[in-house]
Amino acid sequence: MQQQELLYEGKSKLIFKSDKEDRIIIQFKDDATAFYNIKRARIENKGKMNCDISSMLLGYLNENGVSTHFVEKIDENKQLCRVVEHIPIEVIVRNVIAGSMAKRLGIEEGVVPENTIFDICLRGEELGDPLVNDHHAVALGIATYEELAKIYEISAKVNLLLSELFTKAGITLVDFKIEFGRTESGELILADELTPDTCRLWDMATGERMDKDRFRRDLGRVRETYEEVACRIHNALNK
Ligand code: TMP
Ligand code: ASP
Repeated sequence: MQQQELLYEGKSKLIFKSDKEDRIIIQFKDDATAFYNIKRARIENKGKMNCDISSMLLGYLNENGVSTHFVEKIDENKQLCRVVEHIPIEVIVRNVIAGSMAKRLGIEEGVVPENTIFDICLRGEELGDPLVNDHHAVALGIATYEELAKIYEISAKVNLLLSELFTKAGITLVDFKIEFGRTESGELILADELTPDTCRLWDMATGERMDKDRFRRDLGRVRETYEEVACRIHNALNK
């Protein structure tokens, strides 16, 4: 597979064309940003760790009946992925209250709700990724009600599969963010990374944070923690 020109540079990834029309190459960077670029750093090895973690998790989903854009890992920090028409919505799945939901509703972090919570946010940093609902998304022409129903159904399945795997790794999957795309045949598939940048992961034994909150909240040991997550997922997949 030949890498061609750069199509897009995001905060933590580069996306390149490939010599196959229906495939792109995603490169994970060592850059870390939070709070819309106010906080920035380079975390050595993060690109490699995130590529490894995301490849393991998306590969696991592909094998368990959830279609994703991931095709294969082609280098230590690069993935070959399917081309999709990206849907500009972030779906956040919450098993434990934390982060923005805790803050917005005045709930203590760590409270476990009886139901799984699904948020959708409009992707757009100018507006600060605002929380919206299905009616907003349909009115904006972003997705149909049928597509949104399918998106929630897939997100729930992703949550079940990942929660099971993380439990084997001794980690609570607190929440995560995923995005979707449409393939040329109109199929809705998961088209995103799954990494400690986009998931909240708490150590089941100690409650210690094993995700990007270590960077956001200056908790230290970011690199070591990402390496630990990769190692634990690897072991859980081989159990
Ligand atoms: P939140 O607490 O900020 O709403 O985040 C919930 C989860 O979604 C958390 O695991 C981080 C992830 N997330 C992203 O990956 N990208 C984003 O832009 C946002 C807002 C959240
Ligand atoms: N909202 C995400 C975070 O807090 C990304 C960002 O702030 O740029 O990490």
